[in-house]
Amino acid sequence: MESNKKFYHIVTYGCQMNVHDSERIAGMLAELGYVSCDDMEGADIVVFNTCCIRENAENHAYGNIGMLKKLKAARRDMIIAVGGCMPQQIGKADILHKKFPYVDIIFGTHNLGKLKEFVLQKQSRKKAVIEIQPAEGAVTEGEHPLRTSYPNAWINITYGCNNFCSYCIVPYVRGRERSRRSENVIKEAQSLIGEGYRELTLLGQNVNSYANGTDDIRFPRLLEKIAAIDGKFRLRFMTSHPKDFSEELAKAIASDPKICRCVHLPVQSGSDRILRAMNRKYTSADYLKKIEILKKHVPYCAVTTDLIVGFPGETDEDFKDTLRLVKEVGFSSAFTFVYSKREGTVAANMPCQIPEEVSKERIMQLVELVNSLTREHSAKYVGTTCEILCEGYDEKRGLFLGRDEFGRMGYFNSDKNVIGEFVQLRVKEANGVSLMGELV
Ligand code: SAH
Ligand code: SF4
Ligand code: F3S
Repeated sequence: MESNKKFYHIVTYGCQMNVHDSERIAGMLAELGYVSCDDMEGADIVVFNTCCIRENAENHAYGNIGMLKKLKAARRDMIIAVGGCMPQQIGKADILHKKFPYVDIIFGTHNLGKLKEFVLQKQSRKKAVIEIQPAEGAVTEGEHPLRTSYPNAWINITYGCNNFCSYCIVPYVRGRERSRRSENVIKEAQSLIGEGYRELTLLGQNVNSYANGTDDIRFPRLLEKIAAIDGKFRLRFMTSHPKDFSEELAKAIASDPKICRCVHLPVQSGSDRILRAMNRKYTSADYLKKIEILKKHVPYCAVTTDLIVGFPGETDEDFKDTLRLVKEVGFSSAFTFVYSKREGTVAANMPCQIPEEVSKERIMQLVELVNSLTREHSAKYVGTTCEILCEGYDEKRGLFLGRDEFGRMGYFNSDKNVIGEFVQLRVKEANGVSLMGELV
């Protein structure tokens, strides 16, 4: 009966891992009988799955949670839950509770798997349910995520991070690195391929250190084993830390056409002084050497990266080193960030925090350079034919869209629904990151 239906709405911030965590949340809510709805107004439960990687990620969440106050006053039975990386920070759950007393459930990253329990608890009591588990999270198995990104599927292979880059909050909110057993990862991959998923992305903060210190197989072998599963599909992974990027991994990428020739290898800065202060454990020369090794085995490989400007103490010279490195590598695209001070990290207490105007000027220059590289890469596609995995339909443009092996987005017309199919796209036009073409 329509009127008995209960609806959920999930708002997700942050990285791909969080997107997948939201699929886990959706799976739990589905088990409680909730179905998804497109807006907060119609929802019986709203979950904010938050991120705290930069200050603006937190501000976004604050703004959206604040906006729900009125709705909650009008609909007292509505449940509001706030979880993920933001409440996992020390003392943050209390701050959230004081600031938003109408929030019903506050949970962290380590106990996300208990959300079902928290919802049931809340349904039978008035008081808010606030539970942050400070201990290390376990490796979760046997969950039933409700996947929302067909034909792509995300698979966690590691949780947490041990690297403690001096600017980064992730190790504090996701805990120490731990890996899933390879047999479980491979089983999940097999069943996803069996269900018709056409692209698998293996997720971890640093996939290269998968199974470190255990008796399990290492990451390159895991890739090869998954690629060996029958069927036509693509295999991707992220993120790779340059310090652990090995020749074996480059060889594994070359070993099977199912493994996409597309590597996200965040460099962060081109200045050795800044890289040292960031605790990245490589120099710009080391980074270039890794790219050389990669290209030796995989000559046509797209390399993408993350870059931070305005790290404490960054001089004009340091910034120029970054521009130089970006040009030299010729990234096919890059995410660019202004350094954001995160309480509790080592860099937060470093002297010489960079004024906002300086960072703004630098990020503008960097974005311009990155955009010009992206355009250069895209322009090379014009007149060629590439294979696209169709991922969806863009209502606004009235066109289907999908990506090629190297991550370029292509748009096209089609008489029939080709979502989930591999199609051949003759590229007519390139603008920035995206390609326009027609099917052949
Ligand atoms: N584990 C991945 C990335 C995780 S976070 C890796 O190590 O590469 C994604 C990106 O956010 C980082 O690569 C970094 O560029 C950026 N980032 C992390 N902390 C930041 C901070 N405090 N300020 C600005 N950018 C940050
Ligand atoms: Fe953060 Fe560094 Fe770990 Fe990436 S490797 S999650 S940037 S601490
Ligand atoms: Fe991801 Fe943000 Fe947490 S980037 S790991 S959701 S802090």
